[in-house]
Order: sequence, then structure tokens, then C-alpha cells
Amino acid sequence: METINQIAAPKGIRVIEDACQAIGAARNGVRAGGFAYTGCFSFFPSKNLGGFGDGGLITTHEPDLADRLRALRVHGSNSDYHHHLIGMNSRLDALQAAVLQVKLKYVEGWTNKRRLNAERYQQGFEDAGLLDRITLPYVDRANYHVYNQFTIRSPERDQLSAYLTQHGVGNKIYYPVPLHLQECYQELGYRNGQLPVSEKAAKEVLSIPIYSELTSEQITYVVETIKGFFQKS
Ligand SMILES: Cc1ncc(COP(=O)(O)O)c(C=O)c1O
Repeated sequence: METINQIAAPKGIRVIEDACQAIGAARNGVRAGGFAYTGCFSFFPSKNLGGFGDGGLITTHEPDLADRLRALRVHGSNSDYHHHLIGMNSRLDALQAAVLQVKLKYVEGWTNKRRLNAERYQQGFEDAGLLDRITLPYVDRANYHVYNQFTIRSPERDQLSAYLTQHGVGNKIYYPVPLHLQECYQELGYRNGQLPVSEKAAKEVLSIPIYSELTSEQITYVVETIKGFFQKS
């Protein structure tokens, strides 16, 4: 984020921080959502703080922008049925708010469990001698990681994914197509090969279970299954 802000600031570009997977994460003590003009969080059910459906939140340090966003959320109005902006219907549904309010109390504990699971994976993969076969998530020393995903990398990703599925281990590719190659952005004219780092990541990444209720036995099973895949190949 520091680098992105450094590029954007002299050009007067306002940065929107995508903190959707990062509630509670921090860098040098600054929480995710606090690094840019706005930060966006998702309450999609699979997030660390998830509702029973869709929802989200925007953060900002700018009081004027906060007022504007509050109005845009409810049809551009800040008093009933008087509209000074053209807004939208983006209120957080009361039912979702009720669920999120209860779950909010538990997020820190769930995050601690995710972090413990990540440590167990790290140790498990190291003990299994797999560190030269797969790449584990890199965590900068300044970062506090909340592990919405635990994403490993392997050039044999697709075969590994199929093997894990076959052996009952949930896994998913976040994300298979980099942004510049998405069909909806075709008119921007980007082609394969222009952003090689993103393209390589999209071919290699695989997320494995990390949710807070995962037991140490299940983590061992995931590690052993991955070991089995590489012994076989
Ligand atoms: C990094 C990231 N950004 C944005 C989103 C979109 O969130 P939502 O579906 O709540 O709009 C997601 C959700 O999957 C995400 O993981």
C-alpha cells in the first residue's frame, strides 16, 4: 500500500484500498482499511467476518466523504425524501447487521485460530520436507496477517487441486483469471504476457482450508495428502 500511495499521490489519484479479505489485518500497526482515501470490506459469508448474505462497509479518514457516502447509500438523501445526490439503495440489511453485530465479538478469537492454523501448516510442510515443492504465503515482518485464505503455490497446481478434491480436501483457486484478462475489461486491450507476474500467480495459486474450526488432525491430513501427491508424481 505504501508503494501504491507513493505512485498515486503526486498524480492526485485517490486510492481505494480493497481490504475485503483483511478485517483485523495490520501493517506497522495500521489496520487494513486505514491506508488510503477509502477502504472497502466485504461481509460475504466466506469472509473472516461474514453475514448470512451480502453486505459490506467503507472506511475513510475524510469526514466530508463519510457524509457523502452515507447519503449515497440511501438514494442520495440525508433527510427523509429530500435527495441532494443521485444515490443508490445500498443500506446494510437489518438482518445482516444483527448477525454481524453478534459475530463481531468473536472475530478476534477466530482470527487467532486462523493464525495458529497457519503456523501449524508452516511447521507441518517444513517437517514433511515440502518447502521445495510448494511455496507458502510470504508474510512481511511488518504485517499482521489474518489469513482469510492460506494460499500455496505450485506449478502443478491443477493436478494438485484435483488430487486434493479426490481425497476430500476442500481447495479453491483465488483467482483463476487476472483482472487485466477478464472479459469485461477486454476493451482496454491487454493481452496475455503483459502482466507476467499476475499471470503466473493465477496459474499457480491454490487455497487450502484455514477456517478457525479446523483441527490439528485435519491440518495433518491436508499436509499428508499433499505429501502423498508429490510422492506419487
Ligand atoms: C479481495 C476481494 N475484493 C472484493 C470482493 C468483493 O466483495 P463483495 O462480493 O462483498 O462485493 C471480494 C469477495 O470475494 C474479495 O475477496
